[in-house]
Amino acid sequence: MTFRIAPSILSADFARLGEEVRAIEAAGADLVHFDVMDNHYVPNLTVGPLVCSAIRPHVKLPIDVHLMVKPVDRLVADFAKAGANLISFHPEASEHVDRTIGLIRECGCKAGLAFNPATPLNHLDHTLEKLDLVLLMSVNPGFGGQQFIASVLVKIAEVRRRIARCGRDVWLEVDGGIKTDNIAAVAAAGADTFVAGSAIFGSADYRATIREMRARLAMV
Ligand code: DX5
Ligand code: ZN
Repeated sequence: MTFRIAPSILSADFARLGEEVRAIEAAGADLVHFDVMDNHYVPNLTVGPLVCSAIRPHVKLPIDVHLMVKPVDRLVADFAKAGANLISFHPEASEHVDRTIGLIRECGCKAGLAFNPATPLNHLDHTLEKLDLVLLMSVNPGFGGQQFIASVLVKIAEVRRRIARCGRDVWLEVDGGIKTDNIAAVAAAGADTFVAGSAIFGSADYRATIREMRARLAMV
């Protein structure tokens, strides 16, 4: 299993964002997780395509855009132009989920569907064969630094079974409350891609934290 670590810039120093994304690339991160919040679908407001294009020249890492916005569609092309490589959205935020997945892929990005802790997995029934990524939220979206919701572990295992049945290489990303002391349990449940905001950007040494996460993953 290939494991990927995706530091969320939500916990970075926004006044020094270029420097911060260069630092996580140098520290061994696999993706830049870019949380987009609109103060409508979620109760917080963050950054848009302009900031995505501003960080694009600073790193070679893929930019993993997590859209917590409603409506979704009109932002997809803007983020693709701004250099996004993966774009995930929440099914509750799109009137036409299949169309939104198609839009993301037509723009040349990998497409992901994001599930809140209480969003049922039946949204995967007619979509999994078109997805590159399933993003399971292990906190309610809107803020960094929240507590991991342990009941999501069962859901991770269920998604892993569905991906295995489908037979395609779909990434299973988990987002929220991931730390060095629970990352192994999240991997054991079936995740392969780990978002971590406060655990990495809140630490004194990004490289040491990512190294410790990989050490824990190596024991799974
Ligand atoms: C929450 C965001 C997460 C968040 C993770 O809405 O989608 O990506 O930044 O932050 P931590 O790792 O601090 O829970
Ligand atoms: Zn996120």
